[in-house]
Amino acid sequence: MATTLTDPVPTPIADHDERLARAEAGVRALRATRNDRWYPHYHIASDGGWINDPNGLCRYDGRWHVFYQLHPFGTQWGPMHWGHVSSEDMVTWRREPIAMAPSLEQEKDGVFSGSAVIGDDGKPYFYYTGHRWANGRDNTGGDWQVQMLAEPTDGTLTRFTKRGMVIDCPTDEVDHHFRDPKVFKHEGTWYMTFGVSSREHRGQMWLYTSDDMVHWTFERVLFEHPDPDVYMLECPDFFPIVNPDGERKWVIGFSAQGARPHGFANRNRDNAGYLVGSWQPGNAFVPETDFRPWDYGHNFYAPQSFTVDGRQLMVGWMSPFVEPIDMQEDGWCGNLTLVREIVLGADNVLRTVPAAEQLGLRTSREDLGAVEVPTNQEVTVCEDAEAIELEMTIDLRHTTAERAGLHVHATPDGSCTAIVYDDQLQAVVIDRQAAVHGDKGYRVAPLGKDELEAAELRLRVFIDRGCVEVVVNDGREVLSSYSFPGEGPRAVRLVAESGSMAVPSLTVHRLAGNGLE
Ligand code: FRU
Repeated sequence: MATTLTDPVPTPIADHDERLARAEAGVRALRATRNDRWYPHYHIASDGGWINDPNGLCRYDGRWHVFYQLHPFGTQWGPMHWGHVSSEDMVTWRREPIAMAPSLEQEKDGVFSGSAVIGDDGKPYFYYTGHRWANGRDNTGGDWQVQMLAEPTDGTLTRFTKRGMVIDCPTDEVDHHFRDPKVFKHEGTWYMTFGVSSREHRGQMWLYTSDDMVHWTFERVLFEHPDPDVYMLECPDFFPIVNPDGERKWVIGFSAQGARPHGFANRNRDNAGYLVGSWQPGNAFVPETDFRPWDYGHNFYAPQSFTVDGRQLMVGWMSPFVEPIDMQEDGWCGNLTLVREIVLGADNVLRTVPAAEQLGLRTSREDLGAVEVPTNQEVTVCEDAEAIELEMTIDLRHTTAERAGLHVHATPDGSCTAIVYDDQLQAVVIDRQAAVHGDKGYRVAPLGKDELEAAELRLRVFIDRGCVEVVVNDGREVLSSYSFPGEGPRAVRLVAESGSMAVPSLTVHRLAGNGLE
């Protein structure tokens, strides 16, 4: 099968610096038209233009680096570049120059997603997919994709030397899709996995090995999705994690295309989740759990994890799946989630909580103590909240409401997003039926038996200008959704429908901006 042992050769078709300058000008022009009504205060977004997947996540030389898929010339997906921000503390971010633009033959239609890894020499290596349209024009003839290598010219990771293609695509063995490399080292061997649509249209992850990070040999199919409807696994991930008993497990993550909606599952167009299992080098991955979504919200996709000092961290893209996408009128489109830390529980379920560093976003704190919300009443918590975090508990035993929780982004025109515990569904629900802007619909995060029997449901609700992230029970479930408020002040209210709600504790934290506005 597909083996590449030849040296990579750069094949320039354009001057990279000139392409980067054009891209910067594109973002600047969109920035000049930007409407900030929903532009994030503390989530990462581009100054202007469209973004999707987080790429090249790493910590290097004392800074956190987040790259992302960027279309600098419009608010729709288009020829992909890599945008870049960095931070010393994960709280205040600095905008860096656009890192990569299409300038080689193999990436002429896009510098697609990829990841960073620190090599044996202590320097970061960036692997990504070079994308061309197979018919040379557009997506009607499918993709032609290969894996590429780039190395930063210095420790700021702001300029790159592109080395060229390291893995060619065996076009007779795959059905077009062949992308999104993730590299790691295990027991002295370098491994690369990426997503493939097989000749039989099955979603697979392939595994390659290397001794020197440059020359790669095909080893095997690491994983094939059991659902025959799933034709591609985008942005796959593969990493070890230790459970509370000190036992090492392996996690496969992917963003599956093609799965049909079923009950509460697979409600988004494409769906990102994971399996926990075991793996021995030389073998396929053996799943020990069913598929579980990383996030139950309307807008979560293509997450990427990275390892720093034994911690497994992750960032996702809040994908606006359903058109029309109202923020596209505003000069920008799309933001990333907060950085999350992944921890494995004894139940083989991963928890994803915002990394502790981001507590630094909190500026002031107001403890509202215990609150009782009478049947069918509302209690206003904030008159106008653009950027806050709410920490609250709901006493499930003393709450009789059918739906108990919050209305956020509640504007005078009646628009709001509901974030509630739903006693009929036995789940946390995010419901946008009353939103005047954007996609509607609701999403359901079913709770475990122990969560339903616990005295308290714990919520952390991050509200930004145009999105929310809801962290349930220390990250056992998370829901991320866009939520576009109407005109005027944006209230937050406690609500109890057809019954009362007991809130033993409620704290409001005002959050700082992340420096990117
Ligand atoms: C996922 C994805 C990746 C690809 C990139 C292109 O959202 O489709 O598979 O590399 O986006 O922008």
